[in-house]
Amino acid sequence: MNIRAAYPDEIDAIRALFADEVAAGRMLPRTVDEIRAHLDDWLVAEADGAVVGCVSLVRFNGTLCEIRSLAVHPAYRGHGIASALVREALALARQRGIPRVLVLTRAAKLFERLGFRRDFVANFPEKVWRDCAPCPFRHACDEVALIYPWHEHDVKEPADVPTYQLS
Ligand SMILES: CC(C)(COP(=O)(O)OP(=O)(O)OC[C@H]1O[C@@H](n2cnc3c(N)ncnc32)[C@H](O)[C@@H]1OP(=O)(O)O)[C@@H](O)C(=O)NCCC(=O)NCCS
Repeated sequence: MNIRAAYPDEIDAIRALFADEVAAGRMLPRTVDEIRAHLDDWLVAEADGAVVGCVSLVRFNGTLCEIRSLAVHPAYRGHGIASALVREALALARQRGIPRVLVLTRAAKLFERLGFRRDFVANFPEKVWRDCAPCPFRHACDEVALIYPWHEHDVKEPADVPTYQLS
């Protein structure tokens, strides 16, 4: 399994990874144009010659970005691929000098294991204004907000964050 930057001809494969979640109302859709315009913000996991996982980093401003659209093909789940994708997304945020990495998720345990801390989405007005306010699920949101506290991890980084080679 290899984690690397996404290629333009992989956009359909990326969207297919979370199409069922979007259809079920558990993840927000991402359009082809949106992904193409920000392809540098996407990472994929490749295994057996196919794209089996993806994640994106959405930048709000110079100090805050968000991990979004994390998905792994059902046949490949439970082997640490999502965790590896999140680690690489953290490495990318660090490389770009963005000190706070936010996530809204139902898979809080996965993120807590990687060092994220629970927080309140209300503490991130950038997120609330841009995504929560227009979200059709805002009145029944069951996602947990977590933040990666770089300052607590500074002594350990970057050794325990990047584990895969980006191409
Ligand atoms: C969540 C998801 C990305 C995990 O992928 P993965 O490669 O299996 O994850 P890892 O192997 O690195 O870690 C597994 C951990 O993920 C968590 N997890 C997996 N699926 C989960 C789910 N549906 N809800 C909550 N937590 C989940 C569990 O904590 C699990 O830990 P466990 O082994 O102790 O049970 C994958 O199940 C998926 O694509 N789900 C659909 C999309 C989604 O929910 N994305 C998250 C949006 S932030």
